[in-house]
Parts: sequence; C-alpha cells; structure tokens
Amino acid sequence: GTSLLVQTCPDPGLFQAPTAHRQVNGILGGSVLLSVDLSPGKKVKEIEWSFRAGSGVTIQLAEFTGGKFERPDPSDRFKQRLEKYNETSLRIKVLELDDRGVYEARIKIVPATVEEQAFLLAVYEPVPVPEIKSHSLFSTAAGCNVTLQCEVSGREEVNVSWRRGNPPRDLGNLERYQLTPDGRTLHLSLQPNPLDSTFTCMASNPMDQKNISLYLQSICQSGGAAPSPCRWKAIIGALFLGLEINAVVLVNLLHRKML
Ligand SMILES: *[C@@H]1O[C@H](CO)[C@@H](O)[C@H](O)[C@H]1NC(C)=O
Ligand SMILES: *[C@@H]1O[C@H](CO)[C@@H](O)[C@H](O)[C@H]1NC(C)=O
Ligand SMILES: *[C@@H]1O[C@H](CO)[C@@H](O)[C@H](O)[C@H]1NC(C)=O
Repeated sequence: GTSLLVQTCPDPGLFQAPTAHRQVNGILGGSVLLSVDLSPGKKVKEIEWSFRAGSGVTIQLAEFTGGKFERPDPSDRFKQRLEKYNETSLRIKVLELDDRGVYEARIKIVPATVEEQAFLLAVYEPVPVPEIKSHSLFSTAAGCNVTLQCEVSGREEVNVSWRRGNPPRDLGNLERYQLTPDGRTLHLSLQPNPLDSTFTCMASNPMDQKNISLYLQSICQSGGAAPSPCRWKAIIGALFLGLEINAVVLVNLLHRKML
C-alpha cells in the first residue's frame, strides 16, 4: 500500500546534513551580523565562511584562522564590505539586494570536529510612503460612505493594513466597514460627525514601516473629493486676510499707545 511506498522512499532530507537556516534580515545600505551559535566550552580553531547566491555558485568569502581574518578573493563582489566582528561573527556592511542568499559557516572545533551553520539573509528595501486615494464618496446628513484605497509604489513586496484613530489602533469596533482581501481597499460607512475619523494606512516589510493618515471628516464635510486647488486658494487667502487684519489692529494699537 501507500505506507509501504513511503517506507521504501525515505525522506530525502535524511541524506542531507540537516542544517537549519537561521533567518537574518537586513535593510538596503545597512549592515548585518552573522553570529555562529556555539555551546559553551567549545573552542573554535577556524571558521570558513561561504556564500551561495541564487545562481547556485558557492564562493568562499573569508576565513577566521588563529585570530586572523583572510579573504581568499578580496576582489569578489563583497570587496571591503566584509569584516570580522569578533571570533565568531562576520559583519556584512552596506548591504546590496544581491547579497540575499545562503551564508554558511564551517566551524572547526578543537580537537577535531566540524560543525556547519547556515544563515538565510534577506535584504529589504526601505518601504515607500503610501498614498491614500478616496473615491465613491457619497455624503449626506445621514452619513458618509467612502472607499479609501492605499497605494504603495515600487516593485518590492509590502504588507498594507489600515488603522483608525489617533493614536492609530485596529479597525476593530468600527461599525460598518469592508476590507478587500489584499487589505488595501477599505469601504466605509460612517455616521455623521464621527468623533474619531482619522484613518491611517500602514505599509511595512520586516525591516521598515511608513504611515500616512487621512482626516476623513474634512473630506466627508466637503461633500466631494479632497479640497480642490481653488478651495485651497480660498483657504490660504482667508488665512492671509486674517493675518493682515491682525497686523492692522496691532499697528493701530501701537500707534494709540505711542500717542
Ligand atoms: C560575538 O558577538 C556576538 C554578537 O554580539 C555575541 O553574541 C558573541 O557572544 C560574541 N562572541 C565572542 C566570542 O565574543
Ligand atoms: C451607505 O451604505 C450603506 C450600505 O453599505 C447604506 O445602507 C447607506 O444607506 C449608505 N449611506 C449613504 C449616506 O449613502
Ligand atoms: C507580510 O505579513 C506576513 C504575515 O504577517 C509575513 O509573513 C510576511 O513576511 C510579510 N511580508 C512582508 C513583505 O512584510
């Protein structure tokens, strides 16, 4: 039967050295530390570091031997970006996207054992600032229905989520909302004059996060899209007019005081 088949075909993993990859995350331009994990009492004689890129080619990166740091090929793509941090850790600086891959440490331990440890390095780009677009606005005295869409430029993968309020918290108790499965588009149905109508879109990856907030009440009250350039001109104009009037009053007061 099937079980017999399974038994005669053991898990191929059993034939390979079961080296678990430790996940290490870095950000473009930043640095990471690959630290070998050793049980206490073990004395390291030598560590050989290698890198396996996507192409499948493994290159020898560095050797820690008797307190020395050696680079078999100092003109490889890492050039000056590798450093010995301490006896058991390698530092990679000014990270590039192509540094993603598997790093292996072959550790020779006194007197005569060898251990292998692997690191899976992920390099993330900084997350772009997201943008909120509002559409399908329908606002009456009975409430405001609106669709908010969070857009993130760039080709890298980011996670998008919505928060409400200030400080931002989960959408949780919001009476009526619908979220598309990708988490980017939020359909809202708000009561008139909601006290708490700040909506924040958060874009993140494991190394970075950017937020943008929208004060929905002003959009709902304007009864249409976000203020148009003409509206802005009117607002700014009013502001300047206000300042001017204040200045005139001030000058008049000073004038009177001096007299
Ligand atoms: C090297 O540095 C790492 C990270 O700070 C630390 O965990 C480790 O214990 C250090 N090893 C030695 C031999 O000092
Ligand atoms: C908003 O949408 C809900 C259904 O999602 C509807 O019942 C309600 O009448 C709408 N309100 C307005 C002001 O359009
Ligand atoms: C997105 O979130 C999931 C679940 O929390 C996580 O496993 C994944 O790594 C995240 N991806 C990015 C690009 O942040």
